[in-house]
Amino acid sequence: MRRNRSAEWVRRLTSESSLSVNDLIWPIFVQEGYSERTPVPSMPGVERLSIDLAVEAVSQAKALGIPAVAVFPVTPAELKTPDGKEATNPDNLVCRTVRAIKERHDDIGVICDVALDPYTTHGQDGIVRNGKIVNDETVEVLCQQAFVQARAGCDIIAPSDMMDGRIGAIRTALDAESLQDVSLLAYSAKYASAFYGPFRDAVGSAQNLGTADKRTYQMNPANTDEALREVELDIAEGADMVMVKPGMPYLDIVRRVKEAFGVPTFAYQVSGEYAMLRGAAEQDWLDWDEVLFESMVSFKRAGADGVFTYAALEIAKLLRA
Ligand code: PBG
Repeated sequence: MRRNRSAEWVRRLTSESSLSVNDLIWPIFVQEGYSERTPVPSMPGVERLSIDLAVEAVSQAKALGIPAVAVFPVTPAELKTPDGKEATNPDNLVCRTVRAIKERHDDIGVICDVALDPYTTHGQDGIVRNGKIVNDETVEVLCQQAFVQARAGCDIIAPSDMMDGRIGAIRTALDAESLQDVSLLAYSAKYASAFYGPFRDAVGSAQNLGTADKRTYQMNPANTDEALREVELDIAEGADMVMVKPGMPYLDIVRRVKEAFGVPTFAYQVSGEYAMLRGAAEQDWLDWDEVLFESMVSFKRAGADGVFTYAALEIAKLLRA
């Protein structure tokens, strides 16, 4: 076995998976203001950017060949309400960001999350009635949210809310408004995970959520057959692509989904995964570049067609070097 590992060239020749810039999707956080950047303490190296700087950042991503970015808004606290109605405002932060990016670049993909958590005072992804996150009423609002984002120029609508039936409803709603060219990337197998902690710091939903959790709609980390049912439903409802999230602790799910359906399958190296690697690297306990590459190759090996990663820009630079 060691002959095939004996030199770098033969290791390259016998490599079963490989990573390229085409595999990267870069999530970015946007905030209000001009020429403003705010570091996210639990995600060293990640900053929230005002729209003008976000557009600059996207220019960098584009120059490096990154195919797509995903935009996440930091909603000012005064705009949060129990029903999250700011989500459906055509001039909200995320819509203004998408328009600004698209004015400058029409040839990089822009992905927007559909879920109410950046906009609700309780930090849940849906509308709450008598302590319950209600499904169908939430789906109606999600359709409006998807609509304003699509109208702003978003290429891929990515529902991350885990309500039932939202993919079909959003597809129908978009088609009815002549937005049939907008794609749907379903966060199909999204688990109720503690690895989202730093993201909730970044978008400022952590305080809103408090000690509550999302276990009545996000998946139980113990389950895998259920992920296949979720993906199957989303494909039947019209998803163009599907996602498994978190990433590294759920690579078995990525593998099963890709094998069972063969559809474009993405994985999300979430904020907590980034924080673990980055935090350890900052202590000099891990080699950042090496663990970053190894983690990316593991996604590819599991069958992912692409990875959402906060380190996308850095990885793209390393791939060029
Ligand atoms: C919103 C959303 C979350 C993430 C992406 N979209 C958080 C959550 O569901 O609580 C997490 C991303 C990350 O941790 O990097 N629904």
